[in-house]
Amino acid sequence: MSGTRDGSPADGDPVILTHDLTKIYPGADFRAVDELNLSVTSGEIFGLLGPNGAGKTTTAGMLTTRVIPTSGRAFIAGVDVVAHPTLAKQFIGVVSQSNTLDRQLTVWENLYFHGRLFGMSARESRATADELLAEFQLAKWATASVYALSGGMAQRLMVARSIFHRPAVLFMDEPTAGLDPQSRLALWEILQKLNADGQTILLTTHYMEEADQLCDRVAIMDHGRILALDTPAGLKQSVGIDTVVTVRAAGDQGALAAALEAGVAGITSIRVTPDALELRVHDGDRLLARVIAVAEAGGFAINDVSVAPPSLETVFISLTGKDLRD
Ligand SMILES: Nc1ncnc2c1ncn2[C@@H]1O[C@H](COP(=O)(O)OP(=O)(O)OP(=O)(O)O)[C@@H](O)[C@H]1O
Ligand SMILES: [Mg+2]
Repeated sequence: MSGTRDGSPADGDPVILTHDLTKIYPGADFRAVDELNLSVTSGEIFGLLGPNGAGKTTTAGMLTTRVIPTSGRAFIAGVDVVAHPTLAKQFIGVVSQSNTLDRQLTVWENLYFHGRLFGMSARESRATADELLAEFQLAKWATASVYALSGGMAQRLMVARSIFHRPAVLFMDEPTAGLDPQSRLALWEILQKLNADGQTILLTTHYMEEADQLCDRVAIMDHGRILALDTPAGLKQSVGIDTVVTVRAAGDQGALAAALEAGVAGITSIRVTPDALELRVHDGDRLLARVIAVAEAGGFAINDVSVAPPSLETVFISLTGKDLRD
């Protein structure tokens, strides 16, 4: 690892590295995380995308020293997190889902004492607290109690606190779960700005749009394993289709699916969902016209047809046969 002068990894070095990282919770008969091999590079926004129970939080927990691995190893900025948790923590920033601000302290003090806790001098902690409050548009709340903050502001303060000690990697577990759309966009902007300034970020999410829009690379996880790992574009290309056509029509869905499969060129597979048919199409010719013609010839009344490019949801379904949201 080349590294920079202050010892933090340079762009392109692995900030997170795992070897067969595994967690079996006491009493459990399955692996919450199953021989995970992951390398996250400095400068990336890396996403762990998966449904409930996939093992995202357990993975983040082991990397942030909160969960002890059953076997395997994990390194943050080259530091073994099991052998040297205290040192590893110096390289880690964490924003958790729940509000972990200190309610006894003011907004400014929540930052200041974080710096002191991480061994920064009083002078440096004061200066950094002032800078971060300005940067995160919280300066006018400096002396307020954290009780006075809205949910979005409290989260901004937690993000500011998490990067206070300039961690090599920032961990965020489901950062936008439960946020309204406006706060979600605001947080995405904050994360993109931090990343533009060089902050490596690992985030877990079960929102495919979030992984798609925000992440340089995404690992799709289920049952503790990585099923696919690539850029969002690479993942979408990997399914080998270019179009997903959703057809809503009355009548026997199985019969309609069979008619479409026989009559429309380029269909690679059809998925029957409770309220629609989803056609996976590669190189389909005159797609919409053919779909409607075939359906009408078979006597099916079409209510709605829509066409979309493949999404990360498409990738997840093609890997697991189930919906991310199931
Ligand atoms: N402290 C624990 N003790 C026992 N089992 C646990 C514990 N934490 C998680 N598990 C189990 O481990 C598996 C992985 O859980 P984990 O929380 O890592 O998944 P996740 O991908 O973060 O899911 P979610 O989207 O629900 O947050 C699940 O089956 C879960 O029930
Ligand atoms: Mg979780």
